[in-house]
Amino acid sequence: MEENRIVSKVQFPDEERLEVQLRPKFLEDYIGQDKAKHKLRIFIEAAKGREEALDHVLLSGPPGLGKTTLAGIIANEMGVQMKITSGPAIERPGDLAAILTNLDPHDVLFIDEIHRIPRTVEEVLYPAMEDFALDLVIGKGPSARSVRLDLNPFTLIGATTRAGQLANPFRDRFGVLLNLDLYPPERLEEILHRSSQILRIPLDNSGAVEIAKRSRGTPRIANRLLKRIRDFAEVERDGLITGKVAQEGLELMEVDPEGLDQLDRKILETMILDYSGRPVGIETLAATLGEEKITIEDVYEPYLLQNGFILRTPRGRIPTKKSYDHLHIPFEGEE
Ligand code: ADE
Repeated sequence: MEENRIVSKVQFPDEERLEVQLRPKFLEDYIGQDKAKHKLRIFIEAAKGREEALDHVLLSGPPGLGKTTLAGIIANEMGVQMKITSGPAIERPGDLAAILTNLDPHDVLFIDEIHRIPRTVEEVLYPAMEDFALDLVIGKGPSARSVRLDLNPFTLIGATTRAGQLANPFRDRFGVLLNLDLYPPERLEEILHRSSQILRIPLDNSGAVEIAKRSRGTPRIANRLLKRIRDFAEVERDGLITGKVAQEGLELMEVDPEGLDQLDRKILETMILDYSGRPVGIETLAATLGEEKITIEDVYEPYLLQNGFILRTPRGRIPTKKSYDHLHIPFEGEE
């Protein structure tokens, strides 16, 4: 199997290097997301049986759930190469043309943050996706003419935090739409055990339970906490991560028993104290907190919503009684 190749200059910072090392390579090593896995297994087998490229795939879901990992797995299962780029990195149609003309038959092109590709590039992508063809305009003014260039059949895998961020005609051109969900704690425990084996980190069951509970349903966070708690266990304890050691390490990192970090708590506190628990819009909230709207929406809100800390109403988000209780603020009012 060839290693995945990288087209644009994606530099993995330290934080992400560990993640890359831990990435499962095949579907059978990928824990959780059973529905997505089941569908993929079928579509991959069918495409391979017909000796065709897999249909284009759109992966959506909050950051850190393994969209890039899954794209790599698809390429490995298909036995093809994957080239990686991202929406904002493809600035001009020519950039895209250069990438597409360099794909071998059935290769996977992974575009992260696909909702951020420029409109002009999106238009070039349409015929490429539908007909495996590039329509290029050659020359300028009255002598300009259009030529059609055939491409090798390929699979585009797009990743986005929300499928709704794509224009309808764009979304419709993907044959496979897969939405990834936050992971339940039991799945994160499995992932933590797998990671601890690969990285040779002594971790017992109660340690895994404790970290999993506080990882906001996100493997990337679970693996990051594991790494940091390992540091704590090595320096301040005897190296083994038990439930108690995990608790102490997490306390040091200001991750609370519900897995909320400082910004989560600040969000809830702002909703309760500054807005008296009344509905507040995401823009207003982001401005009050001095954070990007997209960070609140994509990174923080899904976990707070899923775990019943906030509710979405037509007039805005409201904090629930659980939030008041969590912050030890008296709740007066009805649920
Ligand atoms: N590491 C990160 N995500 C994973 C997953 N879903 N399965 C196995 N290992 C992982």
